Amino acid sequence: MTPVLAIWDRHQLAARADDVLDVYADAMQVTRSAARSRRSVLSAHLDREGLKAVAALDGDRLVGIAYGYQGAPGQWWHDHVRAAMGPRLAKEWLRDAFEVCELHVRPPLQGLGLGRDLLVQLLGQTRALTAVLTTPDADTRARTFYRDAGWVDLVRDLRFPGDPRSFAVLGLEL
Ligand SMILES: CC(C)(COP(=O)(O)OP(=O)(O)OC[C@H]1O[C@@H](n2cnc3c(N)ncnc32)[C@H](O)[C@@H]1OP(=O)(O)O)[C@@H](O)C(=O)NCCC(=O)NCCS
Repeated sequence: MTPVLAIWDRHQLAARADDVLDVYADAMQVTRSAARSRRSVLSAHLDREGLKAVAALDGDRLVGIAYGYQGAPGQWWHDHVRAAMGPRLAKEWLRDAFEVCELHVRPPLQGLGLGRDLLVQLLGQTRALTAVLTTPDADTRARTFYRDAGWVDLVRDLRFPGDPRSFAVLGLEL
């Protein structure tokens, strides 16, 4: 069956939080329990300004998810990214920015255009001037995916506290 995209509000996102975290576990190849430890992070995002979410459903089964919101100073991710950008880039890219928080597709359905459809639907819902996100700063499928969709590198080799991985901040003019 071809997955169907559905725009979700914060209540639907909250009600399907376990499924969202399971999709994350599958896509990022981490254990289910590691993914579920992120529940508090997801819960904290539910009240963020401008929250938008799009689900990909195969029947009732969640097979892909994309969500984001308008970030603001005082938020952990936003503050780290702002500091890494410096004032000039931050003024240009964070003045009115939609932060893409999660975009994941279950592996058997990757490479079929679903991620692109989710991202287009998600960004189509915001009136922000720019979109920003972080992704591991490595030669991954996600990097190619975003580059092909027009995203540009804004910051390389960003480190978040407590995470040994290197991240890239990417931006897209909307
Ligand atoms: C990144 C991800 C969301 C992309 O979704 P997807 O459904 O697999 O991607 P799509 O099929 O929509 O691909 C769109 C474009 O991405 C690129 N792409 C997709 N798969 C690719 C691959 N295996 N190698 C290189 N480029 C690829 C291509 O540019 C493709 O365009 P094309 O179909 O015209 O060639 C998905 O692969 C995923 O969940 N990956 C693991 C989790 C992750 O890294 N999430 C992002 C974290 S920031």
